[in-house]
Amino acid sequence: MSIVESPANRNAKRLTRREALGYAWLASLAAVVGAGAWLSQLFARPQPASGEPGGSFTVPLAALPPVGGAPLNEPVGRFWLVNTPAGALSLRKACTHLECLCEWDGATRQFVCPCHGSRFAEDGRHLEGPATRGLDRFPITLQAATGAVLAQTDAAGGPLPLGAAAQSPDVALVIDTAARISGPPA
Ligand code: FES
Repeated sequence: MSIVESPANRNAKRLTRREALGYAWLASLAAVVGAGAWLSQLFARPQPASGEPGGSFTVPLAALPPVGGAPLNEPVGRFWLVNTPAGALSLRKACTHLECLCEWDGATRQFVCPCHGSRFAEDGRHLEGPATRGLDRFPITLQAATGAVLAQTDAAGGPLPLGAAAQSPDVALVIDTAARISGPPA
């Protein structure tokens, strides 16, 4: 015996226009509440403190190696601080191929990736290997003891000329590891 559904039953299973609007409204409300919760956790998340990875690092200018010297290694911030003839550069250690940490090779004066052999010049330019761009940079601010900003890295992350500030004992370099600048293309 077959059971034939009556047209009245079929209609009862269909959503009415009012019900459909109600569900759509509930879905929109859930989306808005979800987005709000996501945004508030984003703002509530504590920012990295100074001296922590992702925060800023202050290095006295006196600690900057001389031009031609070995770069200063900052292990916590994972960057190298280089004094090039054109100015100071802060180079992110992570290789731009697959993020292995590059090491300084004093014999060739190059940064070398231990994973697949990419090599980078003292100023971070890509020289060889599978990486497709130079080492990324972190912007540097040259800061007086008063907190006054004396100079800043340009938007391309080029070397920061130190000029007369290099003679002052109170000046510091502030490296912002939250603001990475992509290295130059290979
Ligand atoms: S991770 Fe550096 S060359 Fe592959």
